[in-house]
Amino acid sequence: MAHKIVLLAGDGTGPEVMREGVKVLRAAADAYGISFDLLPYPCGGEYYLKTGDEWPKEAFPSCKTADAILLGAVGHPDARLPNGDLAGANVLFGLRFGLDLYANVRPVKLYPGVRHKLHDEFKQVWKPNLVDFVVVRENTEGLYTPARGTLSRGGTDELAVDSRVVTRKGSERVIRFAFELAVRRGGAPKDRKHRVTCVDKSNVLAGDRLWRAVYDEVAAKYPGVERDYAYIDAFTQWIVRSPEAYDVAVAPNEFGDIATDLAAVLQGGMGIAAGGNIGDKHAMFEPIHGSTPKYAGQDKVDPIAMILAVQMMLDWLGTRKSDAKLVAAAKGVEAAVAGVLAEGKVLTYDLGGTAKCSEVGTAVAKRVVASDARPMSTKRRARGA
Ligand code: IPM
Ligand code: MG
Repeated sequence: MAHKIVLLAGDGTGPEVMREGVKVLRAAADAYGISFDLLPYPCGGEYYLKTGDEWPKEAFPSCKTADAILLGAVGHPDARLPNGDLAGANVLFGLRFGLDLYANVRPVKLYPGVRHKLHDEFKQVWKPNLVDFVVVRENTEGLYTPARGTLSRGGTDELAVDSRVVTRKGSERVIRFAFELAVRRGGAPKDRKHRVTCVDKSNVLAGDRLWRAVYDEVAAKYPGVERDYAYIDAFTQWIVRSPEAYDVAVAPNEFGDIATDLAAVLQGGMGIAAGGNIGDKHAMFEPIHGSTPKYAGQDKVDPIAMILAVQMMLDWLGTRKSDAKLVAAAKGVEAAVAGVLAEGKVLTYDLGGTAKCSEVGTAVAKRVVASDARPMSTKRRARGA
């Protein structure tokens, strides 16, 4: 039976990277004998400017009945809702909140050959085999709880409040998700120990004292996984100094948001960083970069984050449906990406290359086809969930 996948390409460079993601998905379908039913819907700020809606009425119900969802990016500089919010954000939050996608899973893995643009030079800064951890970001509460407002008293008395909500249930389920992920992974590169780092600001915030207490309760049920604690401020320097010490880190929503943009630098930049928004019944996968309006329509940006989002989707779907073909296809896509990166010939500008977005997509897709004939490595570690 065909797996039903909703495609929300969105704004700016979203449609360009989505095209390449779909190219690779189709290549994987051919190579591994899988059938997909692809359902595209327009959405985002540009769609809002045209229609007054952020997505068509039928899109969300379709997402609810889909096997998985792929999202490109939302956000257009001119598209604002009457209240000033970015138009299109309700697509992202509509899915995260509406489908209860409580775990935002963001692998931070540096593939061999990937160089970074630091100090205006492209170099390989970190050692690839020493950067391989996953940040699990709480995705339905924290500072993103839509309990906020402004009080316009005029002049200097104007006031705005955002409520930061941390619940026992919300903390418990995402922390358990992180421990389950750690059990399945191969441990931190440094010592191969399974470890879950509890990221918070419990030295100051009441919500995070609850978060940490729940972490300790959950951790007690996983004696094989080492406990580790980091305040968010310190965490940002430690992951840069000693990324090899990390296996899985679990963080409240807003801290996970910030830490994963920083962590993306460790893996080659936002052009490579993918994420999965995962709940008990539904999941949506996306590159974590935005819609990059300044590069829209130029076939320029890196599609690898989107392609790795496809890879995470295949792995999640395969694991959920106990479907070996899907799991093998996920491994095949990852091997194809790793192959293109290691070869270093077809790379976009962000990685020091001159290739177009579509050329990178084609290069990866070609390797997915070829990888069908190769014996599959069973040692390769699964990315993400
Ligand atoms: C992300 C993004 C979003 C977020 C924005 C676009 C609302 O930064 O997915 O990390 O803050 O969650
Ligand atoms: Mg972010």
